[in-house]
Amino acid sequence: MKRTVIIDALKRTDFGTDVNIKGWVRTRRGNKSVSFIALNDGSTINNIQIVVDNEKFGDEYLKPITTGACISVVGKLVESMGKGQTVEVQADEIEIYGTADPDTYPLQKKGHTLEFLREIAHLRPRTNTFGAVYRVRHHMAMAIHRFFHERGFFYVHTPIITGSDCEGAGQMFQVTTLNLKNPPKDDLGCIDYSEDFFGKETSLTVSGQLEGELAAMALGAIYTFGPTFRAENSNTPRHLAEFWMIEPEVAFNEIEENMQLAQDFIQYCIRWALDNCKDDLEFLSKMYDEELLERLNFVIANDFVRLTYTEGIKILEEAIAKGQKFEFPVSWGTDLQSEHERYLVEKHFKKPVILTDYPKEIKSFYMKQNDDGKTVRAMDVLFPKIGEIIGGSQREENLEKLQQRAEEMGVPHKDIWWYLDTRRFGTAPHSGFGLGFERLLLFVTGMTNIRDVIPFPRTPNNADF
Ligand code: 4AD
Ligand code: MG
Repeated sequence: MKRTVIIDALKRTDFGTDVNIKGWVRTRRGNKSVSFIALNDGSTINNIQIVVDNEKFGDEYLKPITTGACISVVGKLVESMGKGQTVEVQADEIEIYGTADPDTYPLQKKGHTLEFLREIAHLRPRTNTFGAVYRVRHHMAMAIHRFFHERGFFYVHTPIITGSDCEGAGQMFQVTTLNLKNPPKDDLGCIDYSEDFFGKETSLTVSGQLEGELAAMALGAIYTFGPTFRAENSNTPRHLAEFWMIEPEVAFNEIEENMQLAQDFIQYCIRWALDNCKDDLEFLSKMYDEELLERLNFVIANDFVRLTYTEGIKILEEAIAKGQKFEFPVSWGTDLQSEHERYLVEKHFKKPVILTDYPKEIKSFYMKQNDDGKTVRAMDVLFPKIGEIIGGSQREENLEKLQQRAEEMGVPHKDIWWYLDTRRFGTAPHSGFGLGFERLLLFVTGMTNIRDVIPFPRTPNNADF
């Protein structure tokens, strides 16, 4: 018999029909004569109830049907009398695919901490929480592709292995096939990368932007969506060593259009989540964050506040003068810490904020320089609970200015000659940004640790699974 997935079975009203349901046992309870099995197959957070006449199968046969076991059930779909469900299945046949010894299966009925579940990341998708997070993650990826596709953007695949450091922050993971115990050396005693696989030093990319810009200078509007890697040794709830980033890049867009695109984009994704992930979001809200849905609705209903970094610093300095305490100092020229970003968003404006025109010293070489000689046309989107969710800018389209900035910031021309060529040949104003996919998921799911919104987190001292 053809299998029915639980999300479909729960919607059916053709009671009396035989169905075949397959899934993993969440709980089994009951009495001497009847068992109730809550079965889940991942298609929805909701379980279907299987009603079992114990006598028909025999206690011995039913014994291994415990939490975590996998079974296939054929039975009649009936209207449920129980609370909280509309349909259930009266079992006629039960095939046991796999048992899960209750003495060793780590996921028992309830009450595991998120920290414990991280240690069993291979099994945590079987919990309600992680089932919900995984489904929302999927829907967000779909929303992202749809958003850009509907607007005529082309999806570009940029390389994972690269010879350049886009952000110039020196946080790259090296890629090599050299024998690390005895690497070849040149005359000066330095490692001779000409003998490495690519004949040069290479790393995992921190961003697809530079290659994305090349594509935008031909296709007009593009986006990338891929894994990026940063060896920043910051063990925070918002940083991963391997995370996914979405980077649109648009020819002829100036910073104002870039800001609007960022706002439209995030609001579209959140609206999509509210429309398509209702059950999962309601569950997550109930479990972890009562204000989740309210916050999501608020963000789609309100424009983001736009102000300059300089204005932002002024607000923070005024707050400090009035007694607000921060761990890190604030002064013009310093990078904002997450506590400062969240003050602006959560306390001062109570809305998402787009900060622009940062000091050039704290931003990357490729950002368009303003006429004041001090700031660049950067834009960071700051979100409640998260801090920075998007970083982007208008790009420097003038070759001389770009070259000069690259030099000052120690980005060798030989690494980016091909990037500089876009400014040599048919240069144009253009802008783009990067959205951290997991930061968006933190916001949408209400989870508070970034390790809980990616299936297998990579963080310092942690690359299991
Ligand atoms: O601000 P970032 O470093 O910007 C760039 O990489 C640009 N090349 C993007 C562009 O203009 N095309 O990173 C962009 C976003 C951040 O705002 C944050 O959401 C996320 O990527 N991000 C991280 N997410 C998780 N873990 C980390 N270690 C992250 N570092 C950045
Ligand atoms: Mg940034």
